[in-house]
This record gives sequence, structure tokens and C-alpha cells, in this order.
Amino acid sequence: KKTYQPIDDTPHVPDEQLGVEPVLRIISNLTHIIKSTFPNTKVYSAMGNHDYHPKNQMPPEKSNIYEQTANLWHDWLHAASKETFKIGGYYTEKLLNQTGFRVVVLNTNLYYDQNKLTENIKDPADQLSWADKVLQDAAKNNEKVYIIGHVPPGFFEKKRDKAWFRKEFNKRYIDLIQKHSAVIQGQFFGHHHTDSFRMFYSSKGSPISAMFLTPGVTPWTTLPGVIDGGNNPGIRIFEYDTKTLLIKDILTYYLNLTYANKVYERWEKEYRLTEAFRVPDASPASMHRVMERITSDKCYLQKYFEFNSVNYDLTECHADCRVDHVCAMREVDFEAYEKCVVKEGGSSTAPVLFTLLLSLMLSLLCLS
Ligand SMILES: *[C@@H]1O[C@H](CO)[C@@H](O)[C@H](O)[C@H]1NC(C)=O
Ligand SMILES: *[C@@H]1O[C@H](CO)[C@@H](O)[C@H](O)[C@H]1NC(C)=O
Ligand SMILES: *[C@@H]1O[C@H](CO)[C@@H](O)[C@H](O)[C@H]1NC(C)=O
Ligand SMILES: [Zn+2]
Repeated sequence: KKTYQPIDDTPHVPDEQLGVEPVLRIISNLTHIIKSTFPNTKVYSAMGNHDYHPKNQMPPEKSNIYEQTANLWHDWLHAASKETFKIGGYYTEKLLNQTGFRVVVLNTNLYYDQNKLTENIKDPADQLSWADKVLQDAAKNNEKVYIIGHVPPGFFEKKRDKAWFRKEFNKRYIDLIQKHSAVIQGQFFGHHHTDSFRMFYSSKGSPISAMFLTPGVTPWTTLPGVIDGGNNPGIRIFEYDTKTLLIKDILTYYLNLTYANKVYERWEKEYRLTEAFRVPDASPASMHRVMERITSDKCYLQKYFEFNSVNYDLTECHADCRVDHVCAMREVDFEAYEKCVVKEGGSSTAPVLFTLLLSLMLSLLCLS
């Protein structure tokens, strides 16, 4: 079975160049394109922070844009989904109408620190208490659940200390996942335009959930202050066990923009997770192993780093780069991330010469 990941629909330009009407027109246009390309495929669509006007300002209540978007997505939403979508941009449905399987689509734009409308609200649009109840019922009904959203919790791996969620929301999101990890079989987010993942651990430190950050179809030159931060367009297919919802493998395709601009556009396979990182599947335990390999092995770090920009930035990932990526992947919690940065940034007690020799040997040994 295959699923496809959504990213923001509209261009990342100043608000003055857009408006409610252009934003809705773009969402409508893309909805039509997806529908005509995948006519018989069920689509679970989540709102991105740019799918609003003004951008990021998702209200914690009914709004015209939620309502219009729910109408545009009419064919993709069940009646009950449409109702919750209109009041908060979120919904839940059985996965492909099957008993025992569920999808929860969240509007995490409500937790984004750029959103001025939700700053002083404990639980915007009551989404967290709603999700808590949905997941509790899922456990009662023996369901397995996929969570889909756009803006992820935790940190941006390309910029030190850059988080998206407000602190309190970040904490409450982690609490939600820890509480319900037994039913959650995967979390699928975007927003970064890059390819990465986030680990969630139990209070005892065992891996309980992985959040997959799917690269964008659209390239983005990334945040100010990041040098050469672009990405090639990427498309991803998750392969999953239809009985357990275990993610068995992840297949990523990309379009080499440099080549497309010189010669012609050509989509190519980029990598398959199990081959590239030598793990049996994409379970939390396997993703933890992937993370440990990236942390401790320069070859895996470099491979991951090239995948991160969808093969766009092929420069070497040096010490600071390693800390940024490793800590963002491993620690979604704000305080744990700060500790990780200190620990990973200053842990090298090995003599300089030995470290140099070791890294020279390792870089000679890297196999594709
Ligand atoms: C979407 O917009 C593009 C560019 O303006 C246009 O060529 C295309 O016909 C539109 N498609 C639909 C289905 O609205
Ligand atoms: C799923 O169930 C809903 C409500 O019962 C129905 O409207 C819809 O057509 C079903 N979809 C599929 C793909 O079977
Ligand atoms: C992308 O294409 C350019 C131009 O042909 C080439 O130099 C570069 O190596 C390609 N990148 C990858 C990852 O293959
Ligand atoms: Zn976004």
C-alpha cells in the first residue's frame, strides 16, 4: 500500500503578494491536480502554514478559509471530518474505511510560534483534548493509528536552536505521543522541505515512536542565515504492513534541479531506507538504530546529510553540522535538545591527532 505526503500548497512569498482569494484558488488548483492524477486514491490532506491568509494565522475557531477548504476537499473528507475541519482544521477517520485502522490529521499550525491568534490559549480549538480522546478510544477499540500533520514539534536540523512550536505546546505534544504510543504506528509531517526524522522515547528511554519528515516537492532556499540551504524536489512512498501498520520501508525519488535546468527533467530513485541504512524496517527501534549509526559513523552521517537536502547539498557535514542534525533527530524536547547540543558539541576528549587519523581512515572507508 502506498501513501503520499502533502506540503504547503501556496508559494512562500510576502502576504502582500497573496490574499484570501489567491490562496483558496491555489488550494483548489492543487486539489484538482491531485484528484485527476490519482482519481481512485483516498487522500488525507493536512493544512500547511502557508495555506492560509495571512500565512500562519490559523484561528482556534470557525473560519471562512477552513470552511472553503473543507468544501474543496469534500470528496476526501467524511461528513464528520468536515465538521471538525471547519472548527479547527483537524479530523479523524478510519484508514481506508477499515475496522482497526485510523488516521488522525492534526492542524499543528495552531502551535506555531508565528501564529499570533493562539499565543495565550492553553488548547487551541480543543485539538489536544480531542486528540487525547480519539487516541484513548482507538486503544479501547484495538485500532492502530497514523498521525499526519504539517509543522513538526522539536527543532529544525539546519539551524541551531530553531524550534517551530511554542514551548508549552511542544511539551504537550510530546506528552500526547508518550501517553498513546502503544496505538501510534507512525507520524508523518513536512514543513522543513528537507528529509529527516524525529525520535520519541518513553520516560525510561526506549524508542516508542518515529516522526518522518518528508522532503518537499517544492524547493526552498530555507531560512535566512543558512548557507546554501536549498533542496531538490522529492517524492516519497511509505510501504506498510496492512495488518499492523508497521512501516516496512521508505522509498524516496528526486528530481535533480541542476540536471533539469541543463538537460531535461528526470525523476530518479534516490534511496530505500532499509538498503541505505541496513535496517529491517522503519519501526521506532530500527529508526533508533539509524539514528545511532548517523551519530557514531561518519559514513552514515554523510549519507544522511546528502539525503537531507534531497541530494542538493553534497558538501561535507562537519562537526557543527553533525551536532545540529543529531540533536534535532534525537531530542524533540526543548531542554533535552539544549543538553544534547552541549554534550555532543563538547564531548570529544580523544587526542586531536587520533581523531584526525580516525576520521581520515573512516572517510577512506566509506562505501556507497
Ligand atoms: C492550475 O494552474 C495552472 C497554472 O495557472 C493552470 O495551467 C492549470 O490549468 C490549473 N489547473 C486547474 C485544474 O485548475
Ligand atoms: C467509506 O465510508 C463512507 C461512509 O460510510 C462512504 O461514504 C465512503 O464512500 C466509503 N469509502 C470507501 C472508499 O469505501
Ligand atoms: C545533478 O546533476 C548535475 C548536473 O548534471 C551533476 O553534476 C550532479 O552530480 C547531479 N547530482 C546527483 C546527486 O547526481
Ligand atoms: Zn510549512
